[in-house]
Amino acid sequence: MIAFDDVSHDYGGGRLFGDVSIKLDQGSFHFLTGPSGAGKSTFLKLCYGELTPSAGKVLVMNKDLQGLSRNDLAAMRQRIGVVHQDCQFLDHLSVEQNVALPLSATGRPVPDSDVADLLSWVGLASHAEALPPTLSGGERQRAALARAVIAAPNMLLADEPTGNLDWDMSQRLMSLMIELNRMGTAVLIATHDLQLIRFAKSQINARVLRIARRKLQVAGADL
Ligand SMILES: Nc1ncnc2c1ncn2[C@@H]1O[C@H](COP(=O)(O)OP(=O)(O)O)[C@@H](O)[C@H]1O
Ligand SMILES: [Mg+2]
Repeated sequence: MIAFDDVSHDYGGGRLFGDVSIKLDQGSFHFLTGPSGAGKSTFLKLCYGELTPSAGKVLVMNKDLQGLSRNDLAAMRQRIGVVHQDCQFLDHLSVEQNVALPLSATGRPVPDSDVADLLSWVGLASHAEALPPTLSGGERQRAALARAVIAAPNMLLADEPTGNLDWDMSQRLMSLMIELNRMGTAVLIATHDLQLIRFAKSQINARVLRIARRKLQVAGADL
């Protein structure tokens, strides 16, 4: 699904991480941990081509991202749902319109019932017609997850998707991501919430990656 081949990244102020070679297979479930500033968000951005690696290759569905035309990159991104760390919305559109955007913006039909089901799953049924600036931080994260999964992506990338949520809601969103994974979606979640990782690992087979000392390591079974 996604393969890093000897990838390094450097924003200009020194190498953030290097020599990363890893495959995230179709249907797999991964967590990405590491201290703040280690490069988790950078790693996710490399996965969907928002950033180009300083060295090495990133392949998505067997295609080198650097070789893709703008159109091919856009088509590839339609198959990847992303929850960004700073959930941005189109503020003049309602929550339900924002959630439907991955479908409506590409001319695909938007089944009203799918939008309603997802909004109620993330606990936002009563906010369907609200405008994003009126939402709390946690409500924005929940809306961002609904938007990321509405188009049934092959892969979900989520950057600290439960950072502003209480434990009940974190579990609920994690259950949704586990359910999607059981249906075949590959999932990669950046988080430093070990309780959340343990909760997921009690239900599915998840691998934990950690960025530490400028390397990506596979964490041991102790987590
Ligand atoms: N666009 C950028 N330009 C320069 N430095 C950046 C940029 N984005 C992130 N960084 C730096 O790279 C490091 C890793 O950032 P990030 O990937 O956001 O880490 P994490 O998500 O693990 O907290 C940080 O030191 C951050 O300041
Ligand atoms: Mg981050």
